[in-house]
Order: sequence, then C-alpha cells, then structure tokens
Amino acid sequence: MTRTRIALHEVAPRDGLQMEAVFVPTDDKVAWLDQLSGLGYAKIEVTSFVSPAAIPALRDAEEVMRRIHRAPGVAYTALVPNARGAERAIDGRADEFNLVMSASATHNLANLRMTQAQSFRTLADVTRMAQQAGVAVNVSLSCAFGCPMQGDVPPAEVMGWIDRFVDLGVQGVTLCDTTGMADPGQVLALCGAALARQPGTAFTAHFHDTRGLAGANVFAALQAGITRFDASLGGIGGCPYAPGASGNAATEDVVHLLQCLGLDCGLRVETLAPAADTLQALLGHALPSAVRRAGPRWQRHAPPADFDSIRDRALAREAGQAGQA
Ligand code: COA
Ligand code: ZN
Repeated sequence: MTRTRIALHEVAPRDGLQMEAVFVPTDDKVAWLDQLSGLGYAKIEVTSFVSPAAIPALRDAEEVMRRIHRAPGVAYTALVPNARGAERAIDGRADEFNLVMSASATHNLANLRMTQAQSFRTLADVTRMAQQAGVAVNVSLSCAFGCPMQGDVPPAEVMGWIDRFVDLGVQGVTLCDTTGMADPGQVLALCGAALARQPGTAFTAHFHDTRGLAGANVFAALQAGITRFDASLGGIGGCPYAPGASGNAATEDVVHLLQCLGLDCGLRVETLAPAADTLQALLGHALPSAVRRAGPRWQRHAPPADFDSIRDRALAREAGQAGQA
C-alpha cells in the first residue's frame, strides 16, 4: 500500500445538495462552505453552473462563488456543462472547471440532453475557453463503472473518452460510479488501466455507496494507485437524472478508512463532525454516513453500569471453580 498523501475532494455542496428537496439559503450555504474550507480538503466542489431549472438547489451559484472565503491551498471547483456555464464559472473565479459527460450514451442523453458526440464537441469548446482564461480542467466521466439504464460500459470505451480528453489538454479525469454499480475487482482493473495508459493525468475516483461497496471500492482504487478521492459529507448526494442514484461515499467513512490504513489525507473524522452537524441541521434529516452513526473504531464506550458487580461475581465463580479443581 502506498504511503503517498491522499487528496480528498468534498463534493457535498454540489453532488450532495443537487439531490436535496430543500433549497439551502445562500447565507447558510456560504457559512457552511467557509466551515468546510478550514478542514483540510485539497479541493471543494462548490456548486454547478448548470440550468437553474434543471438543478434548482444550486440556482445561487454566482452569489455563492462570490461570497465564500477561499482558504490558501484549497482548489475551488465548479461543475460546468456547456459554454454558458463556462462563462458563468469564469466570472465566478472558479479555480477549476469540472466538466461532466457520461461514459454511457443513455445516461448522457438523460442527464445532459446531448449525444456523447455533441457533449464532446461542447466540452472541447469549453476546454479552450478554460485554457484561454488560465483555468484548470477536470472531466468527470459519469457511469464509468456501469449505467443503471444501459448496463455495462465496455472499459475500452471509457479508455477512449479518457484519451480524447487528455488530447484536449485537460489536467484531470474523475472516474465516477454514479449509481454504485462498481465492484472492487472492476475498480482495480479499470483504475489500474487508466493510470497505466495516461500516467501524466491526475485521476480521481468517485464512488457512491448505493450497494454498500464504496469503502471496498476506495480500498481497491488505492491498491490500483489512485491518490485522489471525491467524497460527500454525511454521505448525501446523487444524480437526479440517474435512476436509483443514492448517496456518495461519505467523507467521514472514507477518512475513517484512510485513518485505519495509516494514510494521511489532511482530515480527521473528529474534525468533520461539526460541519456534518451544520449540514444535518440545514437539511433537517439524518445523514447516512455509517461512521457518523457508529463513531470511529477507536471511540470507546463505557461498560454497563453494573460492570463491577458482574466482574466480581465472575471472579468469585472462577475462584470457586479453581478451589474445586
Ligand atoms: N447555465 C444557466 N442556464 C443554462 C445553462 C447554464 N449553463 N445551460 C442552459 N441553460 C438554460 C437555457 O438558457 C435555457 O433556459 P430557458 O428555457 O429559460 O430559455 C434552458 O437552460 C435550456 O437550454 P438548452 O440550451 O436548450 O439546454 P438543454 O435543455 O439541452 O439543457 C443542460 C442542457 C445540460 C445545460 C441542462 O439540462 C442542465 O443544466 N442540466 C443539469 C445537469 C446536471 O447538473 N446533472 C447533475 C449533475 S451530473
Ligand atoms: Zn456522484
């Protein structure tokens, strides 16, 4: 297992809030983002510059980008689907565009209303706009591990899209398991193949815990050599245009796993709790993260109140049995 520092990308403000029924008021979003900024993330996905009719929860993207306090060393990224989004993101001084396209032709149409060829042409234009503006580009390839509508996506097709985006000059590619279809064997193979094929590209893995495999998939991706992970505080999130989508790998759960493995990501489970408390209060419902519920494995619980008498009785019985022997 590598000892490299792991970069954690917080996606709850985007992938998380886009799926929530409530609109989190802008003042509250900004205050919560400022809370997240101090925690040690390498990157925070702040918002989406998409159609406000498609994703009403993020309709305040401009104002949020303008008002957040930016911590040194944190990259503030935003999702950009088209040229209109790119103009808005440049005005919003995003450090990076997170372009989105699906490895599945069906999900691409359902989510972005474009064929993959149309998406690629659009994103090629957007990449040129980013390059002229001196903004970094990451591409998130949705459904890279399978599509809930179409089924398996051949790895050769995923590699083909990676090559085409790398040829455009993008800095990073995120392999997204949009609806939790990935399994650890598949993750090991696909992430390993991507890293071997494009060693100069910054790859990120993005898992959803839909079927309880997010932790196993993070472990497999680490073994393949991935050092960057998207995660969502509390485990909220999902794509409203992907049937059956549910929460992302929870940041608490991923950080806990990394701490158990002795890998440094700059965050600790304990320091995440106050920001998750804020989020829970804003959303008004419990968050699905397992570690938030159970606490970390190093948290100790008090023994039962009558523990001393239980122990004394057991010791007395043990002494009696020893006397008889
Ligand atoms: N920012 C703001 N508004 C935008 C926009 C952007 N980046 N892109 C399109 N729009 C608006 C248009 O102005 C138009 O508005 P109108 O109906 O008031 O005239 C409307 O959205 C439709 O525009 P159109 O160019 O016909 O695009 P579309 O209907 O083909 O939609 C997307 C394409 C991708 C921009 C839109 O579906 C979208 O933003 N989807 C959200 C995808 C998403 O975030 N999914 C979850 C994350 S993966
Ligand atoms: Zn996602």
